[in-house]
Amino acid sequence: MGQKVAFTYNLKRKVEEGLPDDYYSEFDSKETIEAIANGLRSRGNEVFLVEADKGLLNWLQSNKIDIVFNIAEGINGESREAQVPAILDFLGVPYTGSGVLALSASLDKAFTKKIFEQAGIPTPRYKLIEEPAEISDEGLRYPLIVKPNREGSGKGITITSVVRNRAELEKEVCKTYKTYRQEILVEEFIEGRELTVGIIGNSPPAVLPILEIDFSNCRASGEFFYTWKVKEFEKEVEDSKGLSPIWHCPARLTKQEEALVGDTAIKAFNALGCVDLSRVDIILDKEGVPYVLEINPLPGLDPIDSNFPFIAKCAGLDYPALMNRILDVAIERHTKNGSLVLHERSLR
Ligand SMILES: Nc1ncnc2c1ncn2[C@@H]1O[C@H](COP(=O)(O)OP(=O)(O)OP(=O)(O)O)[C@@H](O)[C@H]1O
Ligand SMILES: [Mg+2]
Repeated sequence: MGQKVAFTYNLKRKVEEGLPDDYYSEFDSKETIEAIANGLRSRGNEVFLVEADKGLLNWLQSNKIDIVFNIAEGINGESREAQVPAILDFLGVPYTGSGVLALSASLDKAFTKKIFEQAGIPTPRYKLIEEPAEISDEGLRYPLIVKPNREGSGKGITITSVVRNRAELEKEVCKTYKTYRQEILVEEFIEGRELTVGIIGNSPPAVLPILEIDFSNCRASGEFFYTWKVKEFEKEVEDSKGLSPIWHCPARLTKQEEALVGDTAIKAFNALGCVDLSRVDIILDKEGVPYVLEINPLPGLDPIDSNFPFIAKCAGLDYPALMNRILDVAIERHTKNGSLVLHERSLR
């Protein structure tokens, strides 16, 4: 039976003069929003498009719906990804995807890494630098990578983010701090194979086929890892520009490597208290250690560009089926004694 679904998102817009090119990169395009809404409608759900802005609370109070399908990345502050879930918890409305705790923790890469360390999940050694005056590389081995601590979608990540000595580190930290005005994560850059693991469902969560992103044909552009530029243009430009890595799904792994990477991703999902879906970014180094970089409980769902829908397709789930699977696993999680009610946290 179809549900009344409010679909909450933040719409991508044209970057205004003076802002960085990646300013709205986490937000979703009109095409993605339409594709998700149409996917949900194809199974008889009634879908209401609701932009997650200051009018959201009012809208939810004036409209009766069964569940929210949430992909909103949020606008301001360190709680931004958790703001829609917090409002829904407050009103007692069930929703898809992770809750406040997982979304706040995973937005903060250094905080996430502390949780990984606690759970025995390998993650690159790092330092969190509150401001440029505090720069330190003590105990870290070059090359290092410099990233804004609380961004996603490759924001602030370019080939100059990888630094090979103290002078480059200082320059890059200052530049990143000036643009993103937040603490900076400095991490050991792990050489290895880039993998990303899609997870869907609860009790137990299932690992989808692992995706390997291979940059060996990106020489023309010099982009040797998953920078913002590659993420932004990989599906738009011709191969000759060197911005289109090869996606191998399933990844070229032995059975043992596949099991280790899948188990590690599930550990990360559980450690953060994620539910319904997530994508876990991993570098498998030459010794076979799966270093977890981060977890994305709100993975991109662009039908053409995003990793997660591609992974789902390799698992036999086309785009509408994936949208409805996400809705179904959330409904299952929120159903108690036959009715759909808000159920906080997972069933673990
Ligand atoms: N420590 C590292 N070692 C090797 N490569 C790294 C490391 N940290 C980041 N990278 C590279 O940079 C990319 C982006 O880093 P990360 O996943 O931390 O950023 P993000 O902006 O949160 O990404 P997403 O688009 O998945 O939200 C990674 O996919 C990887 O290619
Ligand atoms: Mg990532």
